[in-house]
Amino acid sequence: MKISEIRLTVVGIPRSTGFVSKHVIVELDTDEGLTGIGEMSDFSHLPHYAVDVFDLKHSLEDILLGKNPFDISLINKELTANFPEANFYYEKGNFIRNGVDAALHDLCAKALNISVADLIGGRIQEKIKVCFPIFRHRFMEEVEENLAVVRTRLAQGFDTYRLYVGKNLDADEAFLDGVKSEFGSKVTIKSLDFSHLLDWKSALQATKRLSKYEFQMVESPAVQNDFDGLHHFRIKADHPVSEHVWSFRQQYEMIRHDSVDIFNISPIFIGGITSARKAAAAAEVAGKGCLMGTTQELSIGTAAMAHLGSSLVNLNYTSDPTGPELYIADIVKNPVKYENGYLLVPGRDRPGLGMELDWNLIEQYRVKDLSWGQVSVHQLQDRTTQTK
Ligand code: LMR
Ligand code: MG
Repeated sequence: MKISEIRLTVVGIPRSTGFVSKHVIVELDTDEGLTGIGEMSDFSHLPHYAVDVFDLKHSLEDILLGKNPFDISLINKELTANFPEANFYYEKGNFIRNGVDAALHDLCAKALNISVADLIGGRIQEKIKVCFPIFRHRFMEEVEENLAVVRTRLAQGFDTYRLYVGKNLDADEAFLDGVKSEFGSKVTIKSLDFSHLLDWKSALQATKRLSKYEFQMVESPAVQNDFDGLHHFRIKADHPVSEHVWSFRQQYEMIRHDSVDIFNISPIFIGGITSARKAAAAAEVAGKGCLMGTTQELSIGTAAMAHLGSSLVNLNYTSDPTGPELYIADIVKNPVKYENGYLLVPGRDRPGLGMELDWNLIEQYRVKDLSWGQVSVHQLQDRTTQTK
């Protein structure tokens, strides 16, 4: 079987907050009539420049056309040579490799008539505990809006939340106070996520201030790639520390500096299912915990994570992917499902990722390229349309 054609389609899908994320849908055709689909999820992150999709298609054709899709290791090696790791959390090369790697997994599993989870080690869990994100407060008046989000989502079964913090500590505190007094033990706060906005000492002061409320872990409480800073924070803080993995060098340095307790691993930020499995294995070998992070994928990207999570032996903390609940639309006929705060893994009876494209929806949300329009750094950092 050989890859005979590649198609890239760009869609711009708004979230319920109004923020629009642009994604690239990948289709790989073969000479045997099968098509694998993948998602390069959410290019709407810093840095504030855009990949040229026309050019990208040509680069990928050079790498992929004529290859046997089962040569996943070889293809990943060539993808990494062309789109190298850059030690930056939102490196767009990782997003590109992720979409191709997902499509290869979908294709190979379909060729074998099995699900992707069964291709990569089988199923340890059929559902994955996830938490709902509360985006970062910048203004006091956002506290009431976010408490209303908890009210609505709790009624849908989401009992665990993660809170982006660090720009307005009075508002962060008022939110946690509101959650405690209105919902008590019905709601769990999984993490405070500083998103690398503060140096470790400022993050430590903020964490101490917010520690009168209960939360399970602190994420990204130092600037990017400050391995010593994370270590200092970790030694001084009472809570476990989690950090995203965005390159193998960075993961190695975090292990060497004993920087974290928990690795936050997601295919999008490490460049695909293949690389995410490697990062999870490194976490296991290093005796660290593991959870699945997210950029907030559509259903194809989320399904890839569900299959990955299903097969991981060391997924021992609550994970993050809730994208299909945040966007106002999706581009598949059978979106992934959530039940009582769990992401359900598509069944063994559904070959590949278990997703089918809906071209009516794709046409509705198709955009011509990944260009930015008007959007500020604040909006990108805090995933908001708020212009103040
Ligand atoms: C999102 O898009 O909501 C997240 O990826 C934001 C982040 O970087 O945690
Ligand atoms: Mg995070």
